[in-house]
Amino acid sequence: MQFKLQYEIMYIKNLTLNNFKNFTQKELEFSKINCIVGNNGVGKTNILDAIYYLSFCKSFLGCSDGEVINHNADFFSLKGEYQLNDDIEETFLVSLKRGEKKVLKHGKQPYKKFSEHIGKIPSVIVSPGDHVILTGRSEQRRKFMDIILSQTDVVYMDSLINYNKCLLQRNKLLKYFHQTGVYDYIQLDIWNERLSSLGQLIQEKRKNFFNEFIVPFRENYEFISGGKEDINAEYITYEGNLLEILRSNLEKEKILLHTFSGIHRDDISFTINNHDASYTASQGQQKTFILALKLAQFDYIQKHKNTIPILLLDDIFDKFDFQRVQKILQLAQADKFNQVFITDTHPDRTKMIIPEERINESTIINL
Ligand SMILES: Nc1ncnc2c1ncn2[C@@H]1O[C@H](COP(=O)(O)OP(=O)(O)O)[C@@H](O)[C@H]1O
Ligand SMILES: [Mg+2]
Repeated sequence: MQFKLQYEIMYIKNLTLNNFKNFTQKELEFSKINCIVGNNGVGKTNILDAIYYLSFCKSFLGCSDGEVINHNADFFSLKGEYQLNDDIEETFLVSLKRGEKKVLKHGKQPYKKFSEHIGKIPSVIVSPGDHVILTGRSEQRRKFMDIILSQTDVVYMDSLINYNKCLLQRNKLLKYFHQTGVYDYIQLDIWNERLSSLGQLIQEKRKNFFNEFIVPFRENYEFISGGKEDINAEYITYEGNLLEILRSNLEKEKILLHTFSGIHRDDISFTINNHDASYTASQGQQKTFILALKLAQFDYIQKHKNTIPILLLDDIFDKFDFQRVQKILQLAQADKFNQVFITDTHPDRTKMIIPEERINESTIINL
């Protein structure tokens, strides 16, 4: 318990869903440890998605905003009442009517920019889709870094949003010049300069992040595997000065019609005993990689936000084997987490996460 005292605690007390996916109207009260149980298809993952949505203003499943609105309705809303450190109460509300702009409010105050909200409710989700971090396209690994850095570094998130806007403009311009056959090099260079200054800043931040993140990643891997595997994760990015690279790429880009170099091409290379982990790691080792990445994400956010994140565990009993689930249970028993949500079809299995002395801090939600 003493370990926790140095950190702030953000805790969701209750959640009201209106027309969010399969829930037309639902109110839920939460405790510190929440076991969400029910048969397949009843909406367990959707509850976690709603909690995630209130943190990130989007679905973790990658649904568009239109898709989260109940099929028979034309709007949805989510309201969460939170408690910060036993005393401060905060309410966040997000709502969307089809065809209109999404509204996000802190108390009664609407946000001007959603980016101001990201990081206010630090959260980490462990879900069956996470294997794409290791085996999917590079985009998935950039997304993994971005989700962490966006919660912990406002400048990073704003720079990334602006970088992506500049990238879109520059690509449009390349296409436009190609269509007209006339290249305005001065105009293009304005975008080169914008893109490179934002890109260099993001690269610097990703490098720093990585140097630090590798430590909890290795520690967690070792904790889960208990073994001596030599694992590594390396940040892969362009080398040199981005402005010069962009200028020198132009001849290639005149044919390819998109921006060839920059942080939008970054990647992470995961290795095990010096071999690419996405190909050579066994199924078990891959699961250890994913879990270690997620726990390191938790540790990193906790440290940088000085807040214990809300932990959402979706279907871990089905997707991880018992050996790895036990490691999560061990951490839960050691009181590492503050507020945890865990979904499963079997109520008995979820209850294993509840330490005996915290039974009165737990809730079983039957859907
Ligand atoms: N926009 C929506 N409107 C109505 N139902 C939806 C919507 N989106 C998803 N669903 C339904 O939600 C259910 C899946 O919920 P899910 O949370 O994945 O279940 P569980 O995790 O309990 O297996 C499916 O039956 C699906 O059809
Ligand atoms: Mg599910």
